[in-house]
Amino acid sequence: MSCNDWDSAFGRIDMGQGRAETTDKLKRSTCLLEQTHKGVRPVDTAESEPGDWPLLELRHAAKSFGAVQALIDGSVTLHGGEVRALLGENGAGKSTLVKILAGVHQPDAGSLVVNGREVTLHGPAMAQEAGIAVIYQEPTLFPDLTVAENMFIGRQPVRSGRRIDRKAMQDEAARIFERLGVPLDPARIARGLSIADQQVVEIGKALSLNARVIVMAEPTAALSAAEVDRLFEVTRTLQSQKAAVLFISHRLEEVFAICQTVTVMRDGRHVMSSDLEGLSANDLVRAMVGRELAERPPGESGATPGEPMLTVERLTREGVFTDISFTVRSGEIVALGGLVGSGRSEVARAVFGIDRYDAGNVTVNGQKLKKAAPTSAMAAGIGFVPEDRRQQGLVMDMSVQQNVALASLRDLRKGGLIRASAERAMTTDWAARLKIKYGRLTDPVSMLSGGNQQKVVLAKWLGRKPAVLIVDEPTRGIDVGTKAEVHQLLTDLARNGVAVLMISSELPEILGVADRILVMREGRIAAEFSHADASEEALMTAAMGQHEVTQ
Ligand SMILES: Nc1ncnc2c1ncn2[C@@H]1O[C@H](COP(=O)(O)OP(=O)(O)OP(=O)(O)O)[C@@H](O)[C@H]1O
Ligand SMILES: [Mg+2]
Repeated sequence: MSCNDWDSAFGRIDMGQGRAETTDKLKRSTCLLEQTHKGVRPVDTAESEPGDWPLLELRHAAKSFGAVQALIDGSVTLHGGEVRALLGENGAGKSTLVKILAGVHQPDAGSLVVNGREVTLHGPAMAQEAGIAVIYQEPTLFPDLTVAENMFIGRQPVRSGRRIDRKAMQDEAARIFERLGVPLDPARIARGLSIADQQVVEIGKALSLNARVIVMAEPTAALSAAEVDRLFEVTRTLQSQKAAVLFISHRLEEVFAICQTVTVMRDGRHVMSSDLEGLSANDLVRAMVGRELAERPPGESGATPGEPMLTVERLTREGVFTDISFTVRSGEIVALGGLVGSGRSEVARAVFGIDRYDAGNVTVNGQKLKKAAPTSAMAAGIGFVPEDRRQQGLVMDMSVQQNVALASLRDLRKGGLIRASAERAMTTDWAARLKIKYGRLTDPVSMLSGGNQQKVVLAKWLGRKPAVLIVDEPTRGIDVGTKAEVHQLLTDLARNGVAVLMISSELPEILGVADRILVMREGRIAAEFSHADASEEALMTAAMGQHEVTQ
C-alpha cells in the first residue's frame, strides 16, 4: 500500500466518519515512515486500481497478556493479488498479530475490516467464515484420516441416508490440487506426508473454504529448497487467483523472491509498509532493528584444531544412515550439510543417544559412549541443540531461568541446592548476549515468542560449556539481527576449544562458519570440503548427486 493508493482507494468509498479518520491516521503514519526510510518516491498503483479496496485491514490492534504488551499498534492492509511480507525481530509481535487474524486472540483495541466491513472474530471458526486461513509451520493434520477427509473435516458432503459422499469429497479435493498444480492423492492417509505436503493440504482446505486471505506463518522453516520452490509456485497461483497472502519469514531472500510489498513491525508496533521494489535487505533490517546493523561477516573459527574430541566410527542405523565416520577436533567447527532428509539430524540424534544405532562407535575424548543413552553423552561432555526445539529442548511450564539452568545444574548446585541467584545471573547474562526478549525471568518459557524460545534452548546448552556441542539448525526461527550473534558465539566457543558439530540447511551459514564441511546424501557421507575448497555450487552438487545436477 502506498500513499496515493489511499486517496484513490478510499476517496470514493462512502465510509463512516470514524473509520475515515482512522484510515487517515494510518495513512499518515505509513507515508511518514515511507518518507523517513527511503524518501518519497513515485507510487506503483498497478496492483491497486481505484475502487479496488483491501480484502483485509487490521487497524491499530493492541493486545496485552497480563503486564506484557505483545502488540501495541498492529496494522496491516492486504489487497487481492498481493503477497505481503510481515517482518520483525523475534518478539516483535508477528505471531500475536496473526493470532488476531486467525480469531485465536481477541484484540484489546483496534479494528479489523474484512471486505469493507468491520468484523469481530470470536474464534477460529469466525475467521474461517470471514475467509481468513492461517497455514502454520507445522500443520496438525489427523494422521489416520485421508487427505480429503482432513480438508473437509466437519463439513463432509453427505448423500441420502446421511452417508458421507466420499467420491464428491475426493473429486473436489482433486480439483483443488489440480488448480494448485500439485499432484497429491486425496485418498491417501495423511500419516507420513511431508511437512510440505501437509501445508499444501492446509492450503487446499483454505481454498475449499473460499479463503481469500491466506496467512503463512514461517512456512518454509522446515522445508527443503525444492519444497520451498513448490510452495512459491502454489503461492503464485493463489496470487493469480486474486487471493491475498501474508508471508512471514526470517529469510530475506525468500521475501524478495515471492513478495511485492512488505510490512515491518518493531516492539509490537507497525513501523513501515511499502512496496518491496527499490528496497534492499539492509533497508529491511534497518527498519526491523531500528538501527544500522554492524557488518560482521562470520569467519571460520581461526583456531588451530587440537586433539580429536568427537570420533564417530562406521555408525549405521539400518534404513536411515550407513557407515558414517568422522572426527571433530577441539577448536574445530565441522558442518554436516546436505538436503533436508539426507540423514543429518538422524546422525546427530544417534550420536547424542536419543536414537539407537545398529553398528559403529561414538567416542568422546577417548571414552566410548553407551548406545542410546543421552545421560552418558551428557556426562561425557556433549551438548545438543535439537532441530525441533520446542519438543525436545524446553520444559514449557518451567520458567525462562529454570530452562536456561536446566543443563547446567551441576555447576549451579551448591550443597544440594540450586542457587536461584546463580541461575538468575547466568540467565541474565545469556539473555543479553542472545538478545532474548522476556517479561520476567520467572515467567514460564511458553510465554516467549517462537524465536525467543529457540534462543533459550541455545543459551541452555551454550551455558553448559560442553566439550562437544552439536547444534541442529542453530539459527532456524532466529531473526536476522541475532543470526550474526549466534555465528559469533559458535566461533568463540571453538576458539575456546569446544568441538562444534553444526547441521545447517543454509549454505551461507555453512560456508561462513565451518572449518570443514561433510555433505550427506541419502544416508551416507558423499563428500568432504575444507573451508577454502567449499562453494555453494560444490556443496549443492555433492548434496544432490552429480546425476541430477547435470541433467
Ligand atoms: N501468551 C502470551 N503470554 C505472555 N506473553 C506473550 C504471549 N504471547 C506472546 N507474548 C509476548 O508478546 C511478544 C510478541 O510475541 P510474538 O510471538 O507475537 O512475536 P513474534 O514477532 O512472532 O516473534 P518470533 O519471530 O520470535 O516468532 C513477546 O514479547 C512475547 O513474549
Ligand atoms: Mg512468531
